[in-house]
Amino acid sequence: MSFLDRHSRIETNATLLLVLSLVVVAIGGIVEIAPLFYLKNTIEKVEGMRPYSPLELKGREIYQREGCYVCHSQMIRPFRDEVERYGHYSLAAESMYDHPFQWGSKRTGPDLARIGDRYSNDWHVQHLIEPRSMVPESIMPSYSFLLESKLDTGYLEQHLQANQMVGVPYTEEMVESATADLLAQADPEADWDGLLARYPKAKVGDFDGQPDRLTEMDALIAYLQMLGTLVDFSVYEADANFR
Ligand code: HEC
Repeated sequence: MSFLDRHSRIETNATLLLVLSLVVVAIGGIVEIAPLFYLKNTIEKVEGMRPYSPLELKGREIYQREGCYVCHSQMIRPFRDEVERYGHYSLAAESMYDHPFQWGSKRTGPDLARIGDRYSNDWHVQHLIEPRSMVPESIMPSYSFLLESKLDTGYLEQHLQANQMVGVPYTEEMVESATADLLAQADPEADWDGLLARYPKAKVGDFDGQPDRLTEMDALIAYLQMLGTLVDFSVYEADANFR
């Protein structure tokens, strides 16, 4: 009996075909899925990534509240046109502390994954007050009210703790000094040593052009100026698997 004859026995018996198909699919599934259970983490560790500072975290909250993600993505895809326009493509590690992530699904405006350090604080303030004063053809709405709204610093410790619970490595020291760190980051006169030891590369000083007031504009710009600046791509070497 040739191989084809034997195979025709399977093909003409619906139950046998079904059972054997399921066995084959199950083997395929196990081979693909089982190794993932032995990996602690599928995100490659990258030097420079750290949890967001309390002020950045607040700014991120405002970014979400105002729906900036509706028009802006934070995910540079590994295509030449995107990399030339926005910079190095986004790494998984760069959004590992985002709960929820801000990749977005629509670009009415440009990608913001590497907007940090691209413009001055003053540019951001002016652009958020009146986008058309900086980019005449802009259709972005005005967010001038952020300059007037006092930053609510309540529940800051709890916010860090909630992030801790989902795996962001905030230390107890970070939680305890959250309010002090938030105030220091936006205060041009403050001593930033502790803050910068806990949150390397955090931008400090006055962000909104009103040094004597702490507003939602301060927090949002502190967040924007950090985006994409934590990983140093002049020294970053992609793992061979990713090249
Ligand atoms: C209705 C869509 C829309 C919303 C909502 C929106 N933007 Fe924009 N944004 C745009 C467009 C369009 C541009 C490009 C023109 C310009 O620079 O104003 C832009 C540009 C920008 C830029 C400059 C980007 C660059 O690379 O030059 C920044 C920064 C920015 N937006 C931040 C924000 C923030 C922060 C929010 C939320 C508070 C927000 N946007 C909400 C549409 C939007």
